[in-house]
Amino acid sequence: MSDEISAAEHLDYLTSSVRLMMWFAWYSLDEHPEETFAGTIRNRTDLWRRTFLNPDYIDVPHPGVDSPEWADLLNSLESIYVRNREKGSASAFENEALAILVPYLTPRVERDLNDIRNKVDLVHYQCGSLRYALEPELGCRQRIGFHIANACYPASPFDDPLYFPHCFMDLMDQCEDKFQVTEISTETWMNSYPRWLKLFPPEWLEHMSPPNYDVQWHYGFWGQFVTARRTFNHKLGCQFRDTGRIPFPPRSSWCTIKAMRKHLRAHAG
Ligand SMILES: CC(C)(COP(=O)(O)OP(=O)(O)OC[C@H]1O[C@@H](n2cnc3c(N)ncnc32)[C@H](O)[C@@H]1OP(=O)(O)O)[C@@H](O)C(=O)NCCC(=O)NCCS
Repeated sequence: MSDEISAAEHLDYLTSSVRLMMWFAWYSLDEHPEETFAGTIRNRTDLWRRTFLNPDYIDVPHPGVDSPEWADLLNSLESIYVRNREKGSASAFENEALAILVPYLTPRVERDLNDIRNKVDLVHYQCGSLRYALEPELGCRQRIGFHIANACYPASPFDDPLYFPHCFMDLMDQCEDKFQVTEISTETWMNSYPRWLKLFPPEWLEHMSPPNYDVQWHYGFWGQFVTARRTFNHKLGCQFRDTGRIPFPPRSSWCTIKAMRKHLRAHAG
């Protein structure tokens, strides 16, 4: 059994992910000179949810609302950014930004550990580590979307090869009963993740959209830097910095419930 995350590890998660986001913002603004600094932080990084300005649990599924404190923080970060663009460097920006961000991160630690222990983020997950949408897709009423979390923390949902198949069987049963749908779909970085792809029938790969490298604020991109133990995935963080490309770009796909059931029965017993 893996150990639960410690306070020191969670602080490392917060500081390392925020550092990565500051690194990313600098280079994203090179690629998108038409965007503002504040717009990049708001729309392309997950900074707000990791600060104490987020009054809710860390993975709460919506980005920040405007507040004077958030505007002040963005202004402070922007002055550091502008100064380093004029006379400085990307790494100086990252270090100076982190120095003013740490006091916004540390107050989260105890609260987050408590939320993680109490599985607060899993309240709306109806099928273990899977959560289905509360209505079928607009314009595609035979299809239901779903989301993924880790209800097995501190273990990985991939440790037991029968775990995800059971979650999917449950999800398909419930969604057929409730919505009479015949297809399931999701858009996630996990659609680039080989361990995940083994769960699906060939049609999932056939229907896959192209990889999306246009990084946005949410877990569809940033969720890959969370390990099964909810620590920061330093391996993937380094890979992102070294290559300048998000390691597992999100892709969307769908398949029929019929093909998914057949595949899971054949491959997961
Ligand atoms: C999905 C999730 C549970 C990943 O599960 P997982 O595959 O079991 O991931 P792990 O944390 O065990 O690690 C994956 C790999 O990174 C490695 N790794 C993990 N932490 C590491 C670290 N700190 N340093 C170096 N390597 C590390 C592991 O050894 C493993 O390597 P391998 O693939 O070579 O075996 C996790 O990413 C998660 O909960 N994410 C948040 C939810 C999410 O993103 N949902 C999708 C939203 S669309």
